[in-house]
Amino acid sequence: MKDLHQTGVQPKEKTIENHQLFYKTYRDLQPFFNFIEISPIYMHVYCNDQIVYANKAEIDRLGYSLEEMLKMKFWDPVHPDYVDLVRQIGKSRQLGMSAPRRTEFKVLTKSGKEVWVDIFTSVETIQGQNFVLVGGYDITDRMKVQDELQNARDELEQRVLQRTAELQQSNEALTLQQQMLLGIVSNISDGVIIINRQGDIEFCNPTMENLLNLEQDDIIESFRSGKLAIDDTSIKKMLEKQTAFQEEETVISFAGRKEMRFLISGTPIKDHEGSISKGVVVFRPLAEVHRLVNRISGAVARFRFKDIITCSAIVEDTIQIAKMASKSMSNIMIEGESGTGKELFAQAIHNQSSLANGPFIAVNCGAIPRELIGSELFGYVEGAFTGARKGGNPGKFELAEGGTLFLDEIGDMPIEQQVTLLRVLQEKQLTRIGGSKVIPINVRIICATNRNLYTEVQNGRFRQDLFYRLNVINLRIPPLRERKSDIMLLLKYFLTQMDGAWSNYFDQIELSVREALMAYDWPGNVRELQNLAEKIAYTHNNYQFRLKDLPSGFEATLSENSPAASISDLDARSDMKSQLTDLESKQISFLLQKYHGNVKKVAEETGVSRRTIYRKIKKYQIEL
Ligand SMILES: Nc1ncnc2c1ncn2[C@@H]1O[C@H](COP(=O)(O)OP(=O)(O)OP(=O)(O)O)[C@@H](O)[C@H]1O
Ligand SMILES: [Mg+2]
Repeated sequence: MKDLHQTGVQPKEKTIENHQLFYKTYRDLQPFFNFIEISPIYMHVYCNDQIVYANKAEIDRLGYSLEEMLKMKFWDPVHPDYVDLVRQIGKSRQLGMSAPRRTEFKVLTKSGKEVWVDIFTSVETIQGQNFVLVGGYDITDRMKVQDELQNARDELEQRVLQRTAELQQSNEALTLQQQMLLGIVSNISDGVIIINRQGDIEFCNPTMENLLNLEQDDIIESFRSGKLAIDDTSIKKMLEKQTAFQEEETVISFAGRKEMRFLISGTPIKDHEGSISKGVVVFRPLAEVHRLVNRISGAVARFRFKDIITCSAIVEDTIQIAKMASKSMSNIMIEGESGTGKELFAQAIHNQSSLANGPFIAVNCGAIPRELIGSELFGYVEGAFTGARKGGNPGKFELAEGGTLFLDEIGDMPIEQQVTLLRVLQEKQLTRIGGSKVIPINVRIICATNRNLYTEVQNGRFRQDLFYRLNVINLRIPPLRERKSDIMLLLKYFLTQMDGAWSNYFDQIELSVREALMAYDWPGNVRELQNLAEKIAYTHNNYQFRLKDLPSGFEATLSENSPAASISDLDARSDMKSQLTDLESKQISFLLQKYHGNVKKVAEETGVSRRTIYRKIKKYQIEL
């Protein structure tokens, strides 16, 4: 240890004094001082805040000379961030108060380098003055490692936080997606099941529960136990071959219930390894599919009884019979020349019947090639014949399920198909051409013919047994020439339908024209009249037309006067009357039976008063 006198340094007087005091006190310990001087541990001593001693290691570390050091307060070399702390602790030590013996902080060297130190202190009192002895060692490397560690830890923590947030986000997205999918599957109007690799049902949506009228658990259990059977050839194939399938027909049977028919589509679900784990199958009731097909293909009955325009007593009677007939499920035969309104009647009957909400399917047997009538009516299975559509095709009978099948021009049906038709009507079930599955049928048949079918029966062109089966109720619609009063009424009706203004001009039509129209034979009946009205409406926009405007056929008939028409009208009327009374008495007996003699209910159903029913019971001598 050097005395300042030897170095010639001139720090503050008090510092010199304290320095010398410290020096003198430890002079006798020169060997120990020598040891401290060479110690790698940094050491300095301060008294009254002022540094009074620093060893070589300390001087070398900070880069200040001893002289510079002796001008410093003990906190001067401390990094500004720690000055307050060090100053506070240091002062407490100096005053002999308790303070942490060890402290870690940063100091700045003369050249501005930051060094971390860990210091320890002790206090010595010499002649009533407190000298604080400070030793310290460099912990920069440790702090650096510690910092790096902390940084790494912080970074890791940050990454964990970020990842957690990301996971949470994707979790929420997944939950949302799952809820969305579940929402779709629950609200979809088709039945949906999920079936696993083992062929067990795992899930059913609410629609499927409604369709089968069973709860999900019952469906799963009944399917497992075999009580509920699905014709599942395509489902099995889907699970085995990993292939989707579309719109295959299937049947679900449940012990003790009516079989249900569906159109199903399936998609295999593969797991992340690409092997199939489950399958989703969508069920659509075939009746629903048929309803859609019928709606889109226009197979609906538009006309009602109120659309039948007439002032002819015979037609009015016919309407009465038809209205009554519409209440029963009996087959109806409508006879009438071309264009008399056979289909109009058929549609009106359908719309008034209990099947009104079901389909109305019309098939014109005269317009389909003979060899196709069978497949058109009864359908066919895939591969039944060359050109058969893949997946097969339902016939009109199936499409008309729960509704009316209108067989127009029934007289044109080939004999061999008549046999099949008869069998279907008798058994109330059919099998598609080439198939073996039996399909139950609940359809009301209305037939139409413009031939005298009875003559056809007598000539062997129409089967008698079929004739009787179809001809349960017979309606004959008279040709226009037998109900001349309808001619002008219908003409006015059609003209004003096309152009409302005609109602003001119609009465101005010349007498000669009226006579010509009345005298005309109308071989095309109401349709011909409708066409004429259309022609007039489009070509005579000054709302008048004369005799010369009529098509050529008309003048020819003008000179002939045929009172025969009105006579035949009368004949037909009396014929019709007897048919009407016959049907009326049958109808009332039937209803009385149905309601166990309750006249009130019969009156309600027929829409007449109770008194009328009693009168009719008496008139027809019906036994109660
Ligand atoms: N009384 C009527 N009132 C209103 N329109 C009628 C009447 N009778 C027939 N029509 C109309 O005449 C046209 C022919 O009727 P519909 O097709 O029913 O005859 P059809 O007897 O089935 O004929 P076809 O034998 O040619 O098949 C239709 O447009 C129908 O609406
Ligand atoms: Mg027709």
